[in-house]
Amino acid sequence: MIVDLNSRYGLNPAHSEVVEACKIIEPCNTLDMGCSNGRNAVYLGQLGFNVTAIDTNVGAIDMLQSIINEESINNIKAQVYDINNANLGEDYGFISCTVTLMFIDPARADTIIANMHQRTLAGGYNLIVCAMSTEEHPCPAPFPFTMKTGQLREAYEGWELIKYNEDVGTMHNGAKLQFATLLARKPR
Ligand SMILES: C[S@@+](CC[C@H](N)C(=O)[O-])C[C@H]1O[C@@H](n2cnc3c(N)ncnc32)[C@H](O)[C@@H]1O
Repeated sequence: MIVDLNSRYGLNPAHSEVVEACKIIEPCNTLDMGCSNGRNAVYLGQLGFNVTAIDTNVGAIDMLQSIINEESINNIKAQVYDINNANLGEDYGFISCTVTLMFIDPARADTIIANMHQRTLAGGYNLIVCAMSTEEHPCPAPFPFTMKTGQLREAYEGWELIKYNEDVGTMHNGAKLQFATLLARKPR
């Protein structure tokens, strides 16, 4: 029986969009951008993905590293890395970036996404979930970066859009928060 490591280490379940994406993406070299303490990385690792998990938060990376050590996991690498650098050093079949882009330097957004494109193998996938701010639904949280209507779709022109939506959700305090969600495949 496979032990659920997310439960064992008190991690939340993987993001629902990561779970959905894994129904179509075969295990491959994968980058988890803004991994925090690893709820998605640990889930992906258990499915056989070879994961590099990056975050600026040293404490979060240390916690993920302690899980890796404790479980002798050999398919997850945890690394402190600032996404704003946009100088990824490897190519990946899957790059996942859930609820993280809104914390980046807005001036670096285009460069960061261009670097993700460049570092995705032909036929590989990008998953992005990012908060939006629009006239109809201004973002109620003070994120440094938010997507505009259609912005994420335009950034992936030429890719196969497997999923794209700009759905509005309701937070626990009743505030409306709109997210752009994209799963796209790079042309072969
Ligand atoms: C809301 S959490 C999302 C964590 C995870 N992706 C998930 O789906 O649960 C955002 C994460 O992005 C990280 N982060 C923020 N700015 C970053 C940056 N410039 N480079 C790398 N990680 C960053 C934060 O430390 C935090 O762990």
